[in-house]
Amino acid sequence: MIRIALLAAASLMVATTAATAAAAPAISASARLAATCAACHGTNGDTHGSTLPRLAGQPQQALSTSLHAFKTGQRTSTIMTQIAKGYTDEQLDLLAAYFAAQKPGGVK
Ligand code: HEC
Repeated sequence: MIRIALLAAASLMVATTAATAAAAPAISASARLAATCAACHGTNGDTHGSTLPRLAGQPQQALSTSLHAFKTGQRTSTIMTQIAKGYTDEQLDLLAAYFAAQKPGGVK
């Protein structure tokens, strides 16, 4: 009896895992890239009560300019040059577009 219950539980877990995997493509490539930034800039770039700049809702061009300037060292920074260097120019543009599209004050 216990064995049957365990088997049922195991197959349920497999089914759940498959369902999760199938839902994965709903997360865009830019959202995946942007997840790395959340530790410092808040969920979706929406910092609350932090001294770090809020990225959510900034103009795309401003974000893009900053990111490229960090990468080249044109804009001085404590950490962002190191981070920006890890991305291609195309990825930096994707990140700028992603954060520009986020609503500031959207995440509580
Ligand atoms: C370890 C913490 C940390 C992480 C992770 C981080 N940032 Fe930053 N970010 C900072 C700090 C600190 C600044 C202020 C400039 C500096 O000192 O580097 C900043 C500034 C910025 C700015 C300039 C904003 C403005 O209004 O002047 C942009 C744009 C930015 N970060 C984008 C990103 C993106 C995109 C990512 C993810 C790929 C990211 N950051 C990840 C700490 C971080």
